[in-house]
Amino acid sequence: MKKILTGIKPTGVHLGNWIGAIKPSLELMEKHKDSQGLFFLADYHALNSCFDPVHLKATVKEVAATWLALGLDTKKHIFYRQSDIPEITELSVILAPFTPKGLLNRAHAYKAFQDRNKADGKIDLDEGVNMGLYTYPLLMSADILAFNADLVPVGEDNAQHLEITRDIAGKFNRNYKAELFNLPELVVRKGAMLPGIDGRKMSASYNNHIPVFLPEKRLRKMIMKITTDSTPPGEPKDKDSNSLFSFYSHFANEELVKSMEKKYSEGISWGEVKQEIFEVLNEILKDKREIYEHYLASDEELNQIFKEGSQKAREVSVPIIEEIKKTIF
Ligand code: TRP
Repeated sequence: MKKILTGIKPTGVHLGNWIGAIKPSLELMEKHKDSQGLFFLADYHALNSCFDPVHLKATVKEVAATWLALGLDTKKHIFYRQSDIPEITELSVILAPFTPKGLLNRAHAYKAFQDRNKADGKIDLDEGVNMGLYTYPLLMSADILAFNADLVPVGEDNAQHLEITRDIAGKFNRNYKAELFNLPELVVRKGAMLPGIDGRKMSASYNNHIPVFLPEKRLRKMIMKITTDSTPPGEPKDKDSNSLFSFYSHFANEELVKSMEKKYSEGISWGEVKQEIFEVLNEILKDKREIYEHYLASDEELNQIFKEGSQKAREVSVPIIEEIKKTIF
């Protein structure tokens, strides 16, 4: 049975993440029904940039509850926290000697950090770089190889990390003249791009995002903030003059989208379009919001899910690491 594995960085979740990452990941799982799905919260990766345990705990909880509410089925797939799997951290130590420093020097997140330092006129380009950031791709390789995953769905921005993983795995295999690690295959997750409230791609770093689970009133308020021009009600509207139409079509069915097209030509007001966006979205989110809130309210249930998930995950990872250790020592 093929293993499909993906990591989720526990930083907030907005509608753009849902459309761009969560939805295509869950759809991919649907397509590969006979595969074993492994989903995990990369909390060690999050630790690189969040040293506040209260905040980290809260975001892990939020992100877990979001995935569960949006349809991650823990009966079918294994769902766990990275920090509950000691084999991952152990493997990242084992793989370190097989990881050329130059490989990590070229990793794009590290390079981007250095570029920012350069632009800021810093003399030491490594200022502010910790080893967590620097070895991010090494830990990610361990995430994948500890389970000998076959397929790894990630966004385009993580393609390089997968190349690094394959490099390290290949080097290891060649040294021991055995196919100890499977070379994982990249699946570029083709999520759609959802515009944010200012029309640019929705992203927390632009601060133009709408969280997935907001109370109804706040969701409506945020949708009302999406920028438009001042074309008055009654005047025909251009679908591409702002992001409302595109936003709507990500959530409404074909029939509704068609009728919205007609309403545009008849001069629907921007306020009315926004109201319809809210209604369509709220309809989709209503039941899911309840599930989300249920998980948020009960630490016990989430902990139980993590406990069972890590047990199942370790049934896979323990034998793999045992075999590796037998080979190297
Ligand atoms: N780097 C991924 C991201 O940016 C998260 C991640 C961590 C991951 N470890 C992984 C993805 C292993 C796939 C496989 O979201």
